[in-house]
Amino acid sequence: MAIVSSQSGSGAAARRAVDNAGAAPQTRRQSLLDPRSCPEDDLQGDSQPPGSTAAAEPPGREDSLRPRRLADYIGQSELKQVLGIAVAATRSRGEALDHVLLHGPPGLGKTTMALVLAEELGVRCRITSAPALERPRDIIGLLVNLQAHEVLFIDEIHRLNRIAEELLYPAMEDYRLDLTVGKGTTARTRSLPIAPFTLVGATTRAGALSSPLRDRFGLIQRLEFYELEDLQAIVERTAGLLRLQLEQEGALEVARRCRGTPRIANRLLRRVRDVASVQGHDHIGVELVQEALGLHRVDDRGLDASDRRLLTLMLEGYGGGPVGLETLAAGLGEDPTTLETVIEPFLLQQGLLQRTPRGRLVTAAGRAHLGWPVQLAA
Ligand code: ADE
Repeated sequence: MAIVSSQSGSGAAARRAVDNAGAAPQTRRQSLLDPRSCPEDDLQGDSQPPGSTAAAEPPGREDSLRPRRLADYIGQSELKQVLGIAVAATRSRGEALDHVLLHGPPGLGKTTMALVLAEELGVRCRITSAPALERPRDIIGLLVNLQAHEVLFIDEIHRLNRIAEELLYPAMEDYRLDLTVGKGTTARTRSLPIAPFTLVGATTRAGALSSPLRDRFGLIQRLEFYELEDLQAIVERTAGLLRLQLEQEGALEVARRCRGTPRIANRLLRRVRDVASVQGHDHIGVELVQEALGLHRVDDRGLDASDRRLLTLMLEGYGGGPVGLETLAAGLGEDPTTLETVIEPFLLQQGLLQRTPRGRLVTAAGRAHLGWPVQLAA
């Protein structure tokens, strides 16, 4: 094995990485990975047949509803086109797909797309998330166990710590791990080749990624909120998988109320199913959808209790704004990041809220939606 100097930026970081890795060797019961990622046996280097992680585990509720191929994936047409071309070109060259960064609000299908990519490439997808990669050996264990052309999906990639990030740089660029063995004057860097692989990173906060990490992704794609007709098609597809008899108008009503987000659409549909089964209906029409979603306080535009609390606090407490994110988060007892990445994006996209340099502002449409009089310009 050739010994090369660490090119990953911080030698000290890489050194700590291997020191840690060496200090605590893996045992059969020590899972280095997020429990969603792979069976423990894999960590010992046992090879598994290609296939997605989802296929290797009993499917979760969300998993059973996911599209498996690009052709089944509804919406995000630009993303599908870009990735479809990249997959076809990569396959024809017999290479690993370039690294992909997917960013956008939660629930829009970033994990699903990573699994779809693996399926299209005919390889396994390992799923983990940055908070699960706390120790250097976590990411080292994952990288050395990858087979050629496999997909490694890291959710919340903006939360990777510096050591993990620096281990990733040569891995992404040259399929190489730069590990430092020993301490002090006897420390040496060893370079370990790893299989060519594809990193699919997902984040709700692309701006929080360091630029060296962002620059190592060959494809950077934003997932957008879904169009109404795509959401209706997704709801109809899910209803089919759940064997529900849902009228078109009912599907459209769920689509209108799901904040442009398939994950929420599927969740709302399950709540509608509950009401239908308790009331003994086999057919689900628009009135039943309205009743069920009203019960869950999801209004006709898809705003839920958290959205309305935010807008109401702004209107009642701060005259509609401008008001700072931290102030609002404190007032609501929410974490500012959750407010910024989960609640705000849909309200902004709907034009109910505005971000200004002086803080957040409820728009005229936001006031009208909550039944407040629209303010006349001063
Ligand atoms: N279920 C959840 N998201 C989906 C999508 N984009 N296409 C098809 N089915 C889905």
